[in-house]
Amino acid sequence: MTIKEVLLWAREELQEACERPSYEAELLLAHHLGKDRTYLMTHDREDLADVDGFKSLVQRRAAHEPYEYIVGSASFYDIHLEVEKGVLIPRPETEILIDLVAEIIEREQFTRIAEIGVGSGAISIVLARKFPQLHIIATDISDIPLRVAGKNIERFGLGGQIELRKSNLLDEVDEPLELVVSNPPYIAEDFLLASNVIDYEPREALFGGRVGDELLKQIILDVKARGIRYLACEMGYDQKAPLQEFVSQIGVEYIHFYQDLAQLDRGFVIKFS
Ligand SMILES: C[S@@+](CC[C@H](N)C(=O)[O-])C[C@H]1O[C@@H](n2cnc3c(N)ncnc32)[C@H](O)[C@@H]1O
Repeated sequence: MTIKEVLLWAREELQEACERPSYEAELLLAHHLGKDRTYLMTHDREDLADVDGFKSLVQRRAAHEPYEYIVGSASFYDIHLEVEKGVLIPRPETEILIDLVAEIIEREQFTRIAEIGVGSGAISIVLARKFPQLHIIATDISDIPLRVAGKNIERFGLGGQIELRKSNLLDEVDEPLELVVSNPPYIAEDFLLASNVIDYEPREALFGGRVGDELLKQIILDVKARGIRYLACEMGYDQKAPLQEFVSQIGVEYIHFYQDLAQLDRGFVIKFS
């Protein structure tokens, strides 16, 4: 089969699973060949050597496996991160959380922070690259994220700034901290997720408890109990009211909620008194 023929075949196969089947077919073939997409246009009459290898990539995508797991890489902020099944694919909305935290770090000249739930390393790596003086303790409860984050941290040469630690929340972290950032699991147990998420991404990265905000509330209590000044978290679009009520009971200097680009409530920054 020529490149042109195989792309037409792939487009049909991806019709149901993808919003942009032609584009994804081209991305997968470019990845398979180790070339960029323009190569496909200029060589469309050439025969493809390993048709079966390409077809198996397309069939994985047609079965709703996320593109990022198939190619082993996710684009986030200004970098690419290695990802694999067992680690959450970093989402664009988390970039907003990073920008808010970066403003606080810059304003307060912070040098010691922690991240809860490091995943691929997305948040800690971007922050460490922005602030070379920053030291981050990044925890996760699962082994695969810790291993994948370790590889990404090493690839960016940030081992001196980011220290990984297996821990439930901050249980294994005793060091003094100025700020905690987290994109924890916050989805309710019975929430219906799309097949590309529920069938492939790790449950421990998604579900925050029966209601969904249980882990977020525990993080707020833990950070307050340790006298850490700031906490910044991502949350679900429907969690503003219960969290507002919760923090008004425990008492904080302020809580600012922020929205994502779709104008959905997406997270908060708390300053503790
Ligand atoms: C939503 S993912 C976020 C990953 C990454 N920070 C990002 O934004 O792409 C949540 C992460 O928290 C970890 N996690 C879940 N429960 C945890 C707990 N009790 N303590 C520490 N980490 C936890 C999961 O393993 C997962 O890697």
